[in-house]
Amino acid sequence: MAIRKLRYEGDPILNKVCKPVYDMTDRTLELIEDMAETMYETGGVGLAAPQVGILKRICVIDVTPDCSELLILINPEIIETSGSQTGSEGCLSVPNKSGTVTRPNVVKVKALNTNMEEVIIEGTELLARALCHEIDHLDGKLYIDLVEGDLETYTDED
Ligand code: NI
Repeated sequence: MAIRKLRYEGDPILNKVCKPVYDMTDRTLELIEDMAETMYETGGVGLAAPQVGILKRICVIDVTPDCSELLILINPEIIETSGSQTGSEGCLSVPNKSGTVTRPNVVKVKALNTNMEEVIIEGTELLARALCHEIDHLDGKLYIDLVEGDLETYTDED
């Protein structure tokens, strides 16, 4: 496993549409392990493959405070949403910034696991937000385009 180099806002790779994964290979498994390690190391709750420079429809998410529930989503698709939530959002590719974004409060996602079996994941609140945010990355979209009002800047000391 290895920490991968993050791509930051302004890098054109973050605005590209990612390609579906058709079969699981050792190389893709290694990418997924590295993505999880990179997410945990940088303190994020989610990471999408384009953020480490790979244009594949893969993301990892863990919204638990003790990093105990790693979700791996391959070719994820939102199949149902309900309600709405308005709250603060940030992104590892846009360091030291946050902004207010409205998202669905409940999101149901169809995806493949690492065995390429279909799984359904339902998330509310923070998990619903993370699912929307990460799946947007796979379509080349960043949350900063959805921010209501101004992006806020903070420093690591805050
Ligand atoms: Ni992000």
